[in-house]
Amino acid sequence: MPEFFDKIPLQQLRPGMYVNDVFNGTGIFLFTVKNKITGYHQIESLRRQGVGFCSIIRENQSGKIQQYAPVSNQWLNSQQHQKLKTVNLNRKKIIKTVKEFMASVKTGKFFSFSTLSSTIENLIEQVLDNTDSYLGLCQIKSYNDELYTHSVNTAVLTSALGSHLGYSSDKILEMCTGALLHDIGKIGLPDYLIKKAIYNSDELEQIKRHPLLGIKILKQNYRNIAPVSLSVIGQHHERINGSGYPNCLKGSVIDESAMLCAVCDIYDNLTTEKGKRKACLPQEALALIFQVADEEYPRNLIENFTKLLGIYPVGSFVRLESGEMGVVTKTNRQTLLFPQILVLFNASGERLNNPFLRDISKSDQLNGNHRIKCSLDPQLFKIDPLNVLIRG
Ligand SMILES: [Fe+2]
Repeated sequence: MPEFFDKIPLQQLRPGMYVNDVFNGTGIFLFTVKNKITGYHQIESLRRQGVGFCSIIRENQSGKIQQYAPVSNQWLNSQQHQKLKTVNLNRKKIIKTVKEFMASVKTGKFFSFSTLSSTIENLIEQVLDNTDSYLGLCQIKSYNDELYTHSVNTAVLTSALGSHLGYSSDKILEMCTGALLHDIGKIGLPDYLIKKAIYNSDELEQIKRHPLLGIKILKQNYRNIAPVSLSVIGQHHERINGSGYPNCLKGSVIDESAMLCAVCDIYDNLTTEKGKRKACLPQEALALIFQVADEEYPRNLIENFTKLLGIYPVGSFVRLESGEMGVVTKTNRQTLLFPQILVLFNASGERLNNPFLRDISKSDQLNGNHRIKCSLDPQLFKIDPLNVLIRG
């Protein structure tokens, strides 16, 4: 934390103080406020959103910008760059397999489930070997996402979260299988419904059929699918307060694997553009999910998911306090607010000919100006993070 920020418990927050960032009860960053507190109603509103701590800005703040020499060509030659390229190719192959599997099931052609299972085992192995790269690729959207890309993203996130929580490899395989096929019931629905983001009441009733339809389709075609996988498919839209569907299940009656998939599913949905609905930035999506912690999703799952992903996941486009802007290339799980960034724009907002890497976990200890100020929509700056990360 830069020296001019004080982190205080919410109980000590008073009107007149200027709040910068807010954190949950265990100190995990939730979102940026950057506003003066004018009344107790605002403090109560923060409390209801799960805020336990906040950073306030002391007056008379000061800080000099320390200059860092650009690291020329380091980015283009880095091992990390090569690894991302390989991971992206593997991911494309897995998406293709899922597409073929779903098409076969839809048209009644045979597709061996053991072939799909070995693809899933492969995926888990790769995700656990290259967690940051896979999580990063989940964040980078092409803005024309399809059912199978979302399925693979959800499976990637679910297996990484399952491993982060210490689940056994057998359980991760069963959960990941469920996550990959969680929306398979949608292949039994009209195509136009799959692409829509907002439904009328009749359409919503049809959509609500997909969890049970998925179980039916799989059971008709395959025997011996693990019960955990079927629970994930059947319960991924149930919510702990009973507001979900298809069975309005409550609390611990819902399989914990299904809840885990539900958090990953909603995160990927929120960060994906769909129909007229704009994609949320990763930080916005996490803040939205935190708002329904304890009501719809277990709080500890959301906290662990945030820890896994990093507040600014790989592929996020961010502005630093100094004014520089760039793409996050590596997260730092010990200090979630301070990832490694490929700086693309200087402090005056000019695009750099030679982008350079900056690990702000190191620079921040020297200078608060390299702290991240906010996430930005890369499209507004004509930046395609996928292009930056994969093609250099
Ligand atoms: Fe679903």
